[in-house]
Amino acid sequence: MLSFSIALLLYSAHAAPLPSTSAAAALPRIPPLPRLATTADVHRHRGRSLYNNSVLPQNDTFHQQFAMVVNPYYGLHVFARGENGSLFHMFQTSDKADESGGMPMSGWHCLTPMNGTASDGTHALIWWDDPVAALNLDGRAEIFIRITGDLVLWHMYQTNAKDPLAWDRPRGPVCLCNFPPCQGQTLCGTHASCDNKGVDCNHQDPAEYWSDHTGFPTSNMNTHVDRSTGLVSLFYRGFDGRVYRDVQLKAGNSSKYTSQQPYMFDGIFE
Ligand SMILES: *[C@@H]1O[C@H](CO)[C@@H](O)[C@H](O)[C@H]1NC(C)=O
Ligand SMILES: *[C@@H]1O[C@H](CO)[C@@H](O)[C@H](O)[C@H]1NC(C)=O
Ligand SMILES: *[C@@H]1O[C@H](CO)[C@@H](O)[C@H](O)[C@H]1NC(C)=O
Ligand SMILES: *[C@@H]1O[C@H](CO)[C@@H](O)[C@H](O)[C@H]1NC(C)=O
Ligand SMILES: *[C@@H]1O[C@H](CO)[C@@H](O)[C@H](O)[C@H]1NC(C)=O
Repeated sequence: MLSFSIALLLYSAHAAPLPSTSAAAALPRIPPLPRLATTADVHRHRGRSLYNNSVLPQNDTFHQQFAMVVNPYYGLHVFARGENGSLFHMFQTSDKADESGGMPMSGWHCLTPMNGTASDGTHALIWWDDPVAALNLDGRAEIFIRITGDLVLWHMYQTNAKDPLAWDRPRGPVCLCNFPPCQGQTLCGTHASCDNKGVDCNHQDPAEYWSDHTGFPTSNMNTHVDRSTGLVSLFYRGFDGRVYRDVQLKAGNSSKYTSQQPYMFDGIFE
């Protein structure tokens, strides 16, 4: 205690450097922190982001819940919906803190820059609300997110646990016509039952879809990974108020989920 006070006194009196002990040398250099936001700042911004960022929605970062997993090879991996409705991700790029004392992260990468095919044909993938992530026991991440057009859940999975940029294409749950074809037609309706302009659900490859049924979540989704079996499950509240579970057909295989096991929970979650 005494030697500590003396050292401090010396430091303030002569601006002499602190004695270089091994403990002091191990401390990271911390840059000056920005002023913390106050409630007045929050009111002034009325829910807009306090930080300018060209990717995340500028008017509502408060309500967005990032999906996150910790990859066993490279660390934190974060997923978010951007201002333009696409899905973005960023990931840790080193296990050594940089000079600011933080763990280095990549910038945001767009995960879904290309169009996808829904019942009404190909169009830009505009997502609705937050993604949710799960980590398979082999270290690969999976993402689920709702799509605006059909309100159903879409899915994407990482194909190489060591490569944060290796992903399969986004896929819808099943081939689903919002407007079933009229008699004598084969294609889904896009804006009306009989416009016959959408896709032909009778001739779609099942590999283009991630499930054998479809759910319409009315809550944000949650995931669960069973440590003994490796099965990844997805839980959400459906339109009828019950909680649903979708589960991998084969543990650790992200290509197909099923409702073949009991997948509803009794009771209304209201
Ligand atoms: C964000 O950008 C706007 C417009 O360019 C500017 O007025 C504002 O001060 C910026 N906010 C921050 C936190 O940098
Ligand atoms: C926030 O952004 C969304 C999507 O860009 C828009 O639909 C909504 O009207 C905006 N809300 C406000 C309060 O600006
Ligand atoms: C959103 O922006 C990214 C680039 O940051 C782009 O690749 C993507 O296509 C955009 N999405 C839409 C729906 O325009
Ligand atoms: C992608 O979808 C948009 C409308 O959502 C459309 O204007 C554009 O032509 C589509 N691009 C391709 C390559 O299909
Ligand atoms: C995953 O299952 C699909 C069939 O649903 C199969 O075609 C594929 O080979 C499997 N992948 C692996 C890595 O086992």
